[in-house]
Amino acid sequence: MFDKDFIFGVATASYQIEGSVDADGRCESIWDTFCKKEGAIIDGSDGTKTCESYIKYKDDVKLIKNLGVKAYRFSIAWGRVINSNNKPNKKGINYYVKLCKELIKNNIKPVVTIYHWDMPQWLDDIGGFLNDDIVKYFEYYTDVITNALKGLVKDFITINEPQCIMFMGHDACYFAPGTKYNDKEMLQAIHNLLKCHGAAVKVIRKNIPDSTVGFAPCSRPAIPSNRNNEILEEKCYQEYFDIKRSSEYSNSVSIYSDPIFLGDYPKTYYEQFKDVLPNITKEDLDLINQPLDYIYQNFYSGNYYSLDENGNLTKDKFDFGYPEGNIDWLQVVPETLYYGPKYLYRRYKKPIIISENGFCNNDVVSLDGKVHDPQRIDYIRRYLIELEKISKEIDVKGYFVWSLFDNFEWNSGLRKRFGLVFVDYKTGKRIKKDSFYEFKKIIKES
Ligand code: GAL
Repeated sequence: MFDKDFIFGVATASYQIEGSVDADGRCESIWDTFCKKEGAIIDGSDGTKTCESYIKYKDDVKLIKNLGVKAYRFSIAWGRVINSNNKPNKKGINYYVKLCKELIKNNIKPVVTIYHWDMPQWLDDIGGFLNDDIVKYFEYYTDVITNALKGLVKDFITINEPQCIMFMGHDACYFAPGTKYNDKEMLQAIHNLLKCHGAAVKVIRKNIPDSTVGFAPCSRPAIPSNRNNEILEEKCYQEYFDIKRSSEYSNSVSIYSDPIFLGDYPKTYYEQFKDVLPNITKEDLDLINQPLDYIYQNFYSGNYYSLDENGNLTKDKFDFGYPEGNIDWLQVVPETLYYGPKYLYRRYKKPIIISENGFCNNDVVSLDGKVHDPQRIDYIRRYLIELEKISKEIDVKGYFVWSLFDNFEWNSGLRKRFGLVFVDYKTGKRIKKDSFYEFKKIIKES
């Protein structure tokens, strides 16, 4: 059982669900461009139609209401709200106003992500996060959208998964825009992104003084395979926040969250990157270090660790008999929702909200017309057991399932399904999966 004020919700993101990419003056995003690149999307699909939420938003709200959750996390498409002359686009703004009104009418709290990866192409053309002016553009965009949503929305998340923006978009290059950065560029772009966050928090607080604000990174905690070994747990904690230049550092936890919550980058950052540091001023750090209300975090998976005979941390092999997600990075590690929040709370000391958690499956419509997804049910139940355990020790305020329905799963296209609701992309039909009914039950029981 969770506390009475614990919030269950579902999450989506604009490019993944809206479709209608040419409607009402929306300008092209980096994802429109990226999807056109030969071989960029595994099944050759794109976001031009996907769940058609731009048209069917009232049906979306009906589903959410029927599910019984109290909150809906969705994102704003920058290119709907601001046109390519950097001026507000009334029609695009109006879509989000209508959506929020519909949610409120149905007693569902809108939780708005300002940026979930669909940067307007024209901004990427002038350098994206590498261009120092991005901070002014982001600030202006946040000002426009928060003025429009004043009185409707109180809860904001500035940026979703900065690690994916940087690592997937500019190192591995599996995601838009797919331009490779060297170490110096990467650190500069990360620094600018953090400044965008800080500037946005200030604007949100100014325009909506009673708002709550956070940002939503992702992470993959180090999990002690033996829960009773304190030394192992301590080493896992250190590993989780550690930065090594030799590894995929743009995926780090502390490079992003330390400046935001603690006011500076970790010591190891200055040591490891001394030859490629961006220009970091006291004003920058103060801007980035705006007080936040929550630690939002997207958690899907973790890595188990043991100690070897010399007392060093070693990664275990996955073989735990849990169902497997059909996307390569999604191993089922339920303790992620125990240790992840525990570590974050210990370091940053704010209430925790799980802003995404969910399971990717090969869902099909069975002969009985239903979609049976016992693996997803198993996943959600196991993860919630762990979250409930940690919520007895620290302040945990909410849990959002990724996702309301199947949608455009970035470079994996339409073939990878994460929804509680199945979407038939040809007909547009939506079918509630077994997990939808099960999650509904869980909410009622809690
Ligand atoms: C997150 C991302 C979502 C969604 C999910 C499942 O990284 O924020 O947009 O794609 O993963 O892969």
